[in-house]
Amino acid sequence: EQTANFYEAVGGADVFHRIIARFYEEVARDEVLRPLYPEEDLGPAEERLRLFLSQYWGGPHTYSEQRGHPRLRMRHAPFSIGPIERDAWLRCMRTAVDEAGLSEAHRRQLWNYLEMAANSLMNSWT
Ligand code: HEM
Repeated sequence: EQTANFYEAVGGADVFHRIIARFYEEVARDEVLRPLYPEEDLGPAEERLRLFLSQYWGGPHTYSEQRGHPRLRMRHAPFSIGPIERDAWLRCMRTAVDEAGLSEAHRRQLWNYLEMAANSLMNSWT
């Protein structure tokens, strides 16, 4: 599998923890994104995204053990995600990824995936 050892190659749990924690710091003060998150405490959402991305890139399968099949389009259906929301999500993620100290090849590989995934989760065009 192409992504099987990306997780370890970039530094494993510490690096994924740092990226997702930084992303949620940005979400917490983003006027577009913050109101979309149903819970007051962003901690549980942070953990779900961290476990999902860790698993996707070849880390532990804890996400599936806890949440089952990801079904990300279905799980995003309650939120209206148009170009504004997608751009806000990618802006927060860009900050987090750029600060993570990855090699250029790893940074590009991760970023290409995140852009593709964010586009694929759009469900509104207004
Ligand atoms: C959950 C917003 C893109 C992965 C959520 C939640 C919101 C949200 C509001 C609910 C928070 C929670 O309770 O977990 C958005 C927006 C996006 C976006 C506005 C912009 C395009 C993505 C992308 C990924 C992703 C690109 C994966 C690469 C997840 C995961 C969950 C989640 C794994 C938790 C699913 C579960 O319940 O197990 N997202 N998201 N999201 N999002 Fe996103």
